[in-house]
Amino acid sequence: MAALGSTLGYAQTTIPLETRSTALVLQADDKKNLRIVYYGEKLADAGSYAQVPQAYRQTDDYSGVLASAYTPAGSRNLAEPAITVVHADGNTSLDLRYITHTRQEVTPQVALYTVTLQDPVYPFTVKLFYKVYSQEDVIEQWSEISHQEKGPVVLNKFASANLHLKAPEFWLTQYHGDWAKEMQPETSRITHGIKTLDSKLGTRANLFQPSVFMVSPGKPATEDEGTVLYGAMEWSGNFRIDLELDYQDNLRIVAGMNNFASAYTLKPKETFATPAFVFLLSHHGKGEASRKLHTWARNYKLLDGHGTRLTLLNNWEATYFDFNEQKLFGLLKDTKRLGVDLFLLDDGWFANKYPRNGDTAGLGDWEVNRTKLPNGVSSLVKEAANNDVKFGIWIEPEMVNPKSELYEKHPDWVIRQPAREEHYFRNQLVLDLSNPAVQQFVFQVVDKLFTENPSLAYIKWDCNAVVYNAYSAHLRNQSHLYIEYVRGLYNVLAKIRQKYPKVPMMLCSGGGGRVDYAALQYFTEFWPSDNTDPLERIFMQWEYSYFYPALATSNHVTAWGKQPLKFKVDVAMMGKLGFDIVVDELEAQELAFCQQALRHYNDVKQVIWQGDQYRLADPRQGSFASLVYVDPARATGVMFNYLVNNRYGEGTPYPVKLKGLDPAARYTVREINLLPGTSSPLRSDAVYSGDFLMKVGINPQLSTSRTSVVLQLSKVTP
Ligand code: GLA
Repeated sequence: MAALGSTLGYAQTTIPLETRSTALVLQADDKKNLRIVYYGEKLADAGSYAQVPQAYRQTDDYSGVLASAYTPAGSRNLAEPAITVVHADGNTSLDLRYITHTRQEVTPQVALYTVTLQDPVYPFTVKLFYKVYSQEDVIEQWSEISHQEKGPVVLNKFASANLHLKAPEFWLTQYHGDWAKEMQPETSRITHGIKTLDSKLGTRANLFQPSVFMVSPGKPATEDEGTVLYGAMEWSGNFRIDLELDYQDNLRIVAGMNNFASAYTLKPKETFATPAFVFLLSHHGKGEASRKLHTWARNYKLLDGHGTRLTLLNNWEATYFDFNEQKLFGLLKDTKRLGVDLFLLDDGWFANKYPRNGDTAGLGDWEVNRTKLPNGVSSLVKEAANNDVKFGIWIEPEMVNPKSELYEKHPDWVIRQPAREEHYFRNQLVLDLSNPAVQQFVFQVVDKLFTENPSLAYIKWDCNAVVYNAYSAHLRNQSHLYIEYVRGLYNVLAKIRQKYPKVPMMLCSGGGGRVDYAALQYFTEFWPSDNTDPLERIFMQWEYSYFYPALATSNHVTAWGKQPLKFKVDVAMMGKLGFDIVVDELEAQELAFCQQALRHYNDVKQVIWQGDQYRLADPRQGSFASLVYVDPARATGVMFNYLVNNRYGEGTPYPVKLKGLDPAARYTVREINLLPGTSSPLRSDAVYSGDFLMKVGINPQLSTSRTSVVLQLSKVTP
């Protein structure tokens, strides 16, 4: 009956964290237990949140802390905790009571709430931080743990956030994957007990499962209807998200770094800061939720979220490791001929004693390979300038091949169990970024490239291996390794960004093995998958689009897939367009098509990158995918349509209803990206009202002989 105080409305402190449309409401009861009493639509009268608990008639909360805003373990709690500790004296109990809270206005649109909790028995403090982004309905939550005990305290669990939702049932959409199979969705009803989404891979942490997820209370949300919570860890290492449907039928979400093999020893007066868990709630479906997250990402997280991006030609699939200066000079000419902004030199340009001619050697030895490139990287950068294109380069500075000079010189820099047989992922091992000397080494790999080549315009930063045999020769406390690794990585990235604030960098991890909003603070874009088969990409890019804006999503046209070149280009265009093809092998018509597509892309890219995205037809639910980007002024738009089922007679028998337009405006709809010599069956002189396009729609006329169609919408000025 411990909850009686709040049930009867004796609550002492109610803290509504309000955004434009939602409210997450914390309440400290008469005993100073801090609970979540509400997360839902914002109420007109903030005073009425205190009445919310009275509206429920659920079974008893025996412990009184089932809805805790940060659940401590070892006292009354009976559920999955947010924090577990061993005090300096060996005691394992923790109780956290509300002490105070503050609200700081970061900007008129962003507020930071800090709630201080303390153990009544031990000098142990947890500060909860809620950064509330009003316009986007987004909240970032993290915590800071500290104590003044006589000796170190061991933290066995240390969540970033602890949420509590009430609804008759909950639906979870989660993702799984592997190399070339990223972002495979699964939706299921959450049953009682605990469902854990996690990673224990150390690096390339999202390989099998990313931390992004959706929860729909009631029933699964659709694009435009239903309530949905999006959540994701801002952390590039091991994470753990527990979704516990408790005995009262409420959903408890405990999200943070994974505590797996990571007991953390915290000295007195030190502060342990967790990374942030980002979440938002939409009451109008997944479409609104993702548009809000995209806006938030561009405004506050993604590096250079309002800046421009470079189209590029990458040589990975065109040459793999087999190239030399002359061949690259040819590709630089092709870059210009194709009409992209930049040439990106991929893996294979470095190492001499153990040349990087395959993925078995050389990683870690970042001196240019003198056989392939006798005149160094600088001659390539110069030749790029001669061709009037920019130059970018691939690195994987966190990794080492055992067959390398780096490994020979610094075996103590490598994460490995000295007494155990080594086990490799892609023939390589991970460097120990918990070690400041290694951090400095990694920084210098990048710094040297830039100091020697000031006009270097782009970096692709790869991370192909996971951590096996976790052991650091540097750390005294081995169970700190997974955490200190990621902190070390962020140190390096922060240092790079201090010196080179905006140079575009692509976040790659053997594909999409490391995409999260902590990393994206340092990167302008990410590589979703090595799988560039356009049919597969439609599905993957679709799922990524729930969480990440098109501006950050790099899509390349490659030899993967059997589809026509036009289909490939049309699919790659729905994000940040690039190519990884042998330009020389294109037929004249194909080259002309690509050149023209790039000109079109330059016309519409601003809408794709900064516009609002509306998913119109889900490829998992029908035979085609349709989506549209509309600029904030609702004056221009780009609609992409792809047939994903080539069976006889498949196509678009019905028009596709558009979204996000101005109903009162009139628009022309022009098909772009047509193959030379072909014409569109759509009338280019027709004018439609926004009202018509949203209520009746437009038919892209997909068919098995017209498998992809791109339409440009332009408002007609009266
Ligand atoms: C990873 C990346 C690829 C490519 C290769 C190079 O697999 O995902 O795009 O850069 O490494 O070895």
